[in-house]
Amino acid sequence: MDHKLRIGDTSFHVRTAGQGSPLVLVHGFPLDHHMYDAVFEPLAEQHQVIAVDLRGFGESDGYREIVPMEMFADDVAAILDELDIAEQVTFAGLSMGGYIAWQMWQRHRDRLSRMILLDTRAIADDEVQARARRMAAEAVLSAGMSDVPVNMLPKLLSENTRHEKPEVAKALTEMILRQDPRGVAAAQRGMAQRPNVESWLPEINIPTLVISGEHDVISPPDEMKGFAAQIPGAQFVEIPAAGHMVPMENPEAMCEAVLPFCRDLE
Ligand code: MLT
Repeated sequence: MDHKLRIGDTSFHVRTAGQGSPLVLVHGFPLDHHMYDAVFEPLAEQHQVIAVDLRGFGESDGYREIVPMEMFADDVAAILDELDIAEQVTFAGLSMGGYIAWQMWQRHRDRLSRMILLDTRAIADDEVQARARRMAAEAVLSAGMSDVPVNMLPKLLSENTRHEKPEVAKALTEMILRQDPRGVAAAQRGMAQRPNVESWLPEINIPTLVISGEHDVISPPDEMKGFAAQIPGAQFVEIPAAGHMVPMENPEAMCEAVLPFCRDLE
């Protein structure tokens, strides 16, 4: 079911399906909830799945000059309120969605039963990366999205996916091109100022699953394994035949990791 939720001055698009313990799916950058299309139905066979379009992405509006990760997390909490979901949720976020997961933990931990961190990082940008993001924000505002896929796809998808699954590369390209430069620029600026959360990791006391694509060059498996080891009891799973976009590149393996993790804890 597709929902249009009016919260303050913003209209959020949210897709839900299924019954069972709630599982929130939060997308990466510069994407929308469609990046979870291949896992949405299989996960909804066992869960109430809630896939959101973050502020400024997909069919959600609410543009700002900058959207810090804290604001995205507050938006997700408000969406859960609006949907009347009082039960604690499993929060799954990929990459930027993972940066938001840290803020959910920090600001709304009473809402969380578990976390699933997909292809993401615990460290902040260095000054060079942060400057590059601010420049990229200016570039999309002046030139639009047309150059973005060609620059990003080699980093988002494994070589294997690009050659063997052209339909995935096509869907990802189209998803990027659909995004509004205002939302993209605001999130880039927000990511540039996100904090290093390494000191939070030993405090995390809810079940946590860390998932990395074996060929992820943005958040490489070794780095993810390293921060997973700092989270008490966290499980780490490396997904074969995938780069940064695990839910699109190897959806079956993602479901095989996620469903038992959620089931074992029920
Ligand atoms: C993402 O997939 O959300 C981005 O790679 C995050 C980032 O640019 O750090």
